[in-house]
Amino acid sequence: MTFDTIICGGTIATASDTFRCDVGIAGERIAALGENLGDAREIVDARNKLVLPGGIDSHVHLAQPAGPGIVMADDFASGTRSAAFGGNTMVLPFAMQQKGESLREVVKQYHAKADGHCYIDVSFHLIIADATERVLGQELPALVNDGYTSFKVFMTYEGLALSDLELLNVMSVARETGALVMVHAENYDAIRFLTDRLERAGKTAPQYHAASRPIAVEREATHRAISLSEIVDVPIVIVHVSNREAMEEIRRAQQRGLKIHGETCPQYLVLTENDLKGLNMAGAKYVCSPPPRDHASQAACWEGLQQGVFSLFSSDHCPFRYDDPQGKLAPKGRTSFRWVPNGIPGVETRLPILFSEGVGKGRISLNEFVALTATNHAKTYGLYPKKGTIAVGSDADIAIWDPAMELTISQALMHGGCDYTPYEGIRVKGWPVSTLVRGQFVVRDGALVGREGAGQYVAREKSPLAKPRGT
Ligand code: URP
Ligand code: ZN
Ligand code: ZN
Repeated sequence: MTFDTIICGGTIATASDTFRCDVGIAGERIAALGENLGDAREIVDARNKLVLPGGIDSHVHLAQPAGPGIVMADDFASGTRSAAFGGNTMVLPFAMQQKGESLREVVKQYHAKADGHCYIDVSFHLIIADATERVLGQELPALVNDGYTSFKVFMTYEGLALSDLELLNVMSVARETGALVMVHAENYDAIRFLTDRLERAGKTAPQYHAASRPIAVEREATHRAISLSEIVDVPIVIVHVSNREAMEEIRRAQQRGLKIHGETCPQYLVLTENDLKGLNMAGAKYVCSPPPRDHASQAACWEGLQQGVFSLFSSDHCPFRYDDPQGKLAPKGRTSFRWVPNGIPGVETRLPILFSEGVGKGRISLNEFVALTATNHAKTYGLYPKKGTIAVGSDADIAIWDPAMELTISQALMHGGCDYTPYEGIRVKGWPVSTLVRGQFVVRDGALVGREGAGQYVAREKSPLAKPRGT
């Protein structure tokens, strides 16, 4: 057989094994793994390189409306380009409903934003802000059938927070349809209470964002989300967990046999609340929810990754430019942290940070790295084994890494639409140098060779991890 491409001489790692072999690609798929594979139109030299499944970042926000006068820094073109440079071959952004909108119409709008503009493959989660009878009874079941098999719900944020009754209703639809619910767990009323008091005391600088959302706010909501999911008997994913108390809520639930999945993100491993204390408005660069905590919380998040409490490591990429009145320096945001757009960029830096801090420093194995950044995302969100592994028959979604390359993360290295990286100055060892999506290079030896529009939308299967316990 003649292959289109053979990746030769590299070290392959999957979620379970590390081995030396060549990868034969025919068309869009991996067609062979072995030695002396024979001829190909192109032989790629991967000696001294790692050949890994392309990263799947299952928590990114692109081109979402974010309030009057605020514009997200990445559209689907810039966000997926940035993701490709960060070693990703697929991202799962959100199609976000706003109050009064039809979910089906929302999905059409996001297809219009994405289709023909992506460098890597994408699939959408749905954000449910308006859990009406029509949405619950008609739109969601039809959309799940069409491959939109996961939804995110919020327990906080103006215009997005659902009541407990609404959460139960959405979870119940998920149980009936086989969809998976992702939960943003923070107590909205507690945040409002604290925000009002901080503002009355004149504490309006970005650093008080963290004070308005203390750990108890997250722990309480995590506990409540788990309890609601137990009542309905439906698995959920608690996303972007920032600290020990929330992590331990999840661990306890898992130990009780509940199907609770956990996700954490780079900001909870390498940033702290102190980063929000920058001079003037500089702290706004780190305003995200939940906020980064302290060193003990970082250690707890590492523990969650090491012990399998967290199966997902995502970026929660939600970029707003800093030096921009449509971004972090919006006029209203200068009056109070309450109005600073929430979210930070990270789709390009997620993998190098975990590789360097995790694999490089001996905290996790290379196989755990692959599981946490690719394979588990595919398994959790109905993409496996098409995506998320290196196996015969899987899509040839591959990242080639130079494990010896040392770099200091800086905005000058980034390829997205944002004007800063919150990870500026962090030294890393190990960098993804090439990315192939379905057999085609998108990034090759650090240069963009892919085409806007080559990335495809992928309809997803129902997640095997969304099955109820049957209680
Ligand atoms: O601050 C954050 N995390 N912004 C993104 C939206 C979300 O809550 O995931
Ligand atoms: Zn969230
Ligand atoms: Zn998010």
